Amino acid sequence: MKQLDEVQISQLDAGGCGGGSCGCGSDGVELKSTNLNDAIQERYSQVAQRGASTDVIDTSCCSNASSLYSESSLETVTPQAAGASAGCGNPVGIADVNEGETVLDLGSGGGIDCFLAANATGPEGHVYGVDMTPEMLKLARSNAEKLDAQNVTFLLGKIEAVPLPDATADLIISNCVIALAPDKRMVFDEIYRLLKPGGRLVVSDIVSTVELPEEARQDTAEWVSCIGGADLLSRYLDRINDTGFENTELLTDTPLNSEADDPWRASLRSVTVRAFKPE
Ligand SMILES: C[S@@+](CC[C@H](N)C(=O)[O-])C[C@H]1O[C@@H](n2cnc3c(N)ncnc32)[C@H](O)[C@@H]1O
Repeated sequence: MKQLDEVQISQLDAGGCGGGSCGCGSDGVELKSTNLNDAIQERYSQVAQRGASTDVIDTSCCSNASSLYSESSLETVTPQAAGASAGCGNPVGIADVNEGETVLDLGSGGGIDCFLAANATGPEGHVYGVDMTPEMLKLARSNAEKLDAQNVTFLLGKIEAVPLPDATADLIISNCVIALAPDKRMVFDEIYRLLKPGGRLVVSDIVSTVELPEEARQDTAEWVSCIGGADLLSRYLDRINDTGFENTELLTDTPLNSEADDPWRASLRSVTVRAFKPE
């Protein structure tokens, strides 16, 4: 199993994602919406606005982007994409993206992982990003224009029903998004549909090793922060296998908040999972 490096582990554990500095982390989340879908969009519109108002990439401190990505990767994206980073892992960094591949990013936010994937696929490949929050889409498209990223396309849509044909992608990535989906089975079915035979998923997500209490699951602020919808790790892996994927492997497994008093909260982890659609 690969591990995130020491710096990443200590920063995550100290509360990078999960401590309130990014989209994940319920501290200070204020929402007007009561409906979950609207609340998710409200929250990530706020994160998109944070990204849009970022002028300089913060590599010196514990911004979400600097805790997950190397300085050299961040130099290839815009400050606005880095400023909107709300992931909990670095799926592109460990997905071994090949030149010429078609990559799909589910819940692409400000586009950070799409741009990193596009650097790896080169002009012969193509990267699609799908997100349901219009503010995020606007930010991602504006970032693509600034970077002149011709091989990246951002689509408005839900990860449960992606507006792309069957067998589109060689690789599907996602970074801290499936935890936000109320019906994870639907998402994995959709990933299966969209992958070419032999294609792979590499997803970073928040999971737990202790069942979450019902009040955390019912708490909208916890849910929009990628916590309330965190699946039990064993159930998450079972869902992937039950969908038909094979060679499922945990590539990274990092505690998010191990100092927390509540055992369920202390059990939260950021993981990256890889699995293959059979040939
Ligand atoms: C925690 S952020 C992660 C963004 C990006 N992956 C990153 O690493 O910065 C979650 C993103 O997923 C989007 N999202 C959440 N649920 C979604 C759904 N069901 N369908 C499409 N997008 C969704 C949100 O709008 C938001 O941009």
